[in-house]
Amino acid sequence: MDFSIKAADKKNSLSGIQTDCIVVGVFENGLLSQHATELDTHGEVTQATRSGDISGKAGSTLLLHRTKGARASRLLLAGLGKEPIISEKDFTTAIAAIVQALSRLGAKSALLALPFDDVKHHHTGWAIQTIVIAAANQAYRSDTLKSKRDAPPAGVRKLGFYVPPVNRAGARKALAQARAIATGVELARDLGNLPANVCTPSYLGEQAKKLSDKYAFGVQVLDKRQIQSLKMRSFLSVARGSDEPPRLIVLRHHGGKPKDPPIVLVGKGLTFDSGGISLKPGAGMDEMKYDMCGAAAVLGIFRAIGEMKLKKNIIGIIPSCENMPSGRANKPGDIVTSLSGQTIEILNTDAEGRLILCDTLTYAERFKPACVIDMATLTGACIVALGHHHSGLFTRDDEAHNQLAESLLSAGKAANDTAWRMPIADAYQEQLKSNFADIANIGGQPAGSVTGACFLERFTRKYTWAHLDIAGTAWKSGPAKGATGRPVPLICTWLFQSE
Ligand code: BES
Ligand code: MN
Ligand code: ZN
Repeated sequence: MDFSIKAADKKNSLSGIQTDCIVVGVFENGLLSQHATELDTHGEVTQATRSGDISGKAGSTLLLHRTKGARASRLLLAGLGKEPIISEKDFTTAIAAIVQALSRLGAKSALLALPFDDVKHHHTGWAIQTIVIAAANQAYRSDTLKSKRDAPPAGVRKLGFYVPPVNRAGARKALAQARAIATGVELARDLGNLPANVCTPSYLGEQAKKLSDKYAFGVQVLDKRQIQSLKMRSFLSVARGSDEPPRLIVLRHHGGKPKDPPIVLVGKGLTFDSGGISLKPGAGMDEMKYDMCGAAAVLGIFRAIGEMKLKKNIIGIIPSCENMPSGRANKPGDIVTSLSGQTIEILNTDAEGRLILCDTLTYAERFKPACVIDMATLTGACIVALGHHHSGLFTRDDEAHNQLAESLLSAGKAANDTAWRMPIADAYQEQLKSNFADIANIGGQPAGSVTGACFLERFTRKYTWAHLDIAGTAWKSGPAKGATGRPVPLICTWLFQSE
């Protein structure tokens, strides 16, 4: 997809613009948007709305050919719901329908002349980011491993945004950020969708090196021996059950001042989670190839950071291995010593994400971070709590953490990649008591996503920290099975906010 901004100035009157398709908005009560009115000099738009062929409800569309009011060969009318202020929901519904419609046209180029600035609580930049990501997601294909590729995306390949001259600079900036985010989402989706026999820990390491070559990041891909000498024994206890060697991937982007403390992003990189000796049931187990979506998100975010040449210092850390049953695998009751020194009783080998993350979170201390954000497909319980709409956001309950939480939540809203805050409190830590070690790796049935977060919390007390449980949001099941690329938009929007 190729995106551009076109200024709505005198030499670019909408009716005179030559393009395969112009998209304008109409409303539920038959009222036309400003740009629809501009193209209605021969009454063709009014006729279309009066005829009842388009209701104006969000999501409705109607294609008109060769209208006299415009030089463009097609006019796509798009329902935007109620006017004058468009609700966020109506706008995103309309965008989904528009992107769908455009993907089926014979048209190659289109110009969107929508009231981008009239969405409740949002501005033109938000509308542009929403559309770019929706259009890129619509054009996405996951057919690299099919012997016969799917039909390439048809329809519009060039999408322009028609904005008033005063909004041009802001629109350009928003477009650059949105493009970067879309490439990040694409990488995260690609990696997530790859099967575990292709996307191994070493493969993720190779991808990190490729990114580093392209964008001049610093990169280290530590192998088993190097992880051993770091004494990350909790991480290694999980990796040991598999024949596939583990990797600890460290990416560095130095875009800020040398002394600026870095933001550290940690991503869970289980390239396959069978559960280990606490084996998962067979049905749907293939979906545990997605247990590296946190890692994929970190790599996707780095791609976006590289595209934007972000003026901040960012470190990405990815612990990656498989969780498999074998003669060398963790056994329920095993006790390991984490890098922090805390001993852990592994009561369930399927709670492995926290075992590889806890050592990584301790390792993160050495970067003296401004803050650490981990993203992990950590618990099925998070899906029970929040479903597939919001990621779970966990931080401690104090001033610095509440600020971090607020800024992440609002970035999520701005990015259409929302999170919902969940509690962390000492009361829940009780559930992680062990008779034989400092801490158990499971806390029983109640509040499973909270006890998972509380486990991690014990390894993050030296810095400001947030945890995103993306178990319900990183991929879709069912007929539309596939990685979503979340939370790349959330984190990128958060990182780009002050740029
Ligand atoms: N990767 C899973 C979490 C998961 C499960 C994500 C289903 C998405 C869908 C994680 O490693 C896991 O197995 N967690 C256990 C924890 C339990 C043993 C305390 C779970 O959620 O059942
Ligand atoms: Mn597991
Ligand atoms: Zn897992």
